[in-house]
Amino acid sequence: MTIGALRAAGVNLLRQHGVESPELDASLLLAHLLQKDRTWLVLNQGADCDTGIEAQYFSLLSKRTAGFSVAYITGVKEFMGLDFTVSPAVLVPRPDTEILVENALSWLTTMAQQKYKTCKVLDLCTGSGCIGISLAYYHPDIELTLADISQEALSISRINGERILGPEKCRSIQFVQSDLLAFFLENHEQFDLIVTNPPYVPRRIIPNLAQEIQQEPYIALDGGEDGLDLIRILITQAKELLVGEGALFIESDPEQIGSIQELLKNNGFHAIESYPDLSGSLRCTRGIRLIR
Ligand SMILES: C[S@@+](CC[C@H](N)C(=O)[O-])C[C@H]1O[C@@H](n2cnc3c(N)ncnc32)[C@H](O)[C@@H]1O
Repeated sequence: MTIGALRAAGVNLLRQHGVESPELDASLLLAHLLQKDRTWLVLNQGADCDTGIEAQYFSLLSKRTAGFSVAYITGVKEFMGLDFTVSPAVLVPRPDTEILVENALSWLTTMAQQKYKTCKVLDLCTGSGCIGISLAYYHPDIELTLADISQEALSISRINGERILGPEKCRSIQFVQSDLLAFFLENHEQFDLIVTNPPYVPRRIIPNLAQEIQQEPYIALDGGEDGLDLIRILITQAKELLVGEGALFIESDPEQIGSIQELLKNNGFHAIESYPDLSGSLRCTRGIRLIR
C-alpha cells in the first residue's frame, strides 16, 4: 500500500469508531511509525510502505479505537513547539496551557528589562514539566524548580529536562517532591514567579469525562468537590513564598475564574488579570504579590 492509501484507510477506520479527529490522529500515528513529520507524509503520498509497517500501523490504530490517546500511544506530545515525552504517569500537555506559558514568558521578559536579575521560577504540579521546561527553553536566564507530589511524574519531567534543555542545563534544575508548597515553606525557599496548572476538575464530573481523559492520572484531575480544593491552599501558601512583587499564574476551568480572582484579592494579590484560551474562555489568572 502507498502512504496515501494507508493514511486514508486509517482515517476511515478511526471515523467508523467515532474518533473525534480521525485525519489528524491517523497522520500522527503513521508519521510516528515512519519517524517522519506530517508534512513528509503529504509530500510522499505515492511512496510504497512495506507490509511490516502496515501491520504495525493497524496495531496502533486499534489502540486508538480502544480509547488510548495518540500521545500515550506514541509517548510524545508537542507543546510550545517542543516534543515532550509522556506516559500514563502524567497529564498530556494541552494546547490551552500554552496561554499560561506565553503570559508568564511576557512577565519574565518585562522583569528582565526592569530588574536585570535572574528570576527564580517554580513550576508547581509540573507533571511532564511542560510549563517550566518551556519557560527555560524560551527564556534560558531563569533558575528553575519543578515540583510535583508524584515521583513518577518527576521522573518524566527529568527526562524532558535532559532531552529538551540538555544535560548541563538540566543539572541546574531542582526536582522536588512536594505536597503543593509544603516543602518550600518548610525550607524557607522563595521565588520570583510561581506557575501552576493544578488538578481542578470537580470530582463529580470526572466519571463523565471522555474515555481518553479518564486514562490520565486521577490525581492530575481531581480538584475536590468544586475543583478548587488545591487552588485555595496553594494561593494562601504562595503569598508567603513570593519575593517582592513576585507573580503567581494559575490555570483553571473558565467557571472558576471569578472565585480565583476573589481568592487572590483576599490573599493580598493585586494587578489581577485573566487570559483567554484558544476558544476565547478565560483559562489562566495572574496575581502580583502586594508589597506592604
Ligand atoms: C493538571 S496536571 C498538570 C501537569 C502539567 N503541569 C501540565 O500542565 O500538563 C496536575 C499535576 O499536579 C500533580 N499534583 C496533584 N496533587 C498534587 C499536590 N497535592 N501537590 C503537588 N502536585 C500535585 C499531579 O501529579 C499532576 O502531575
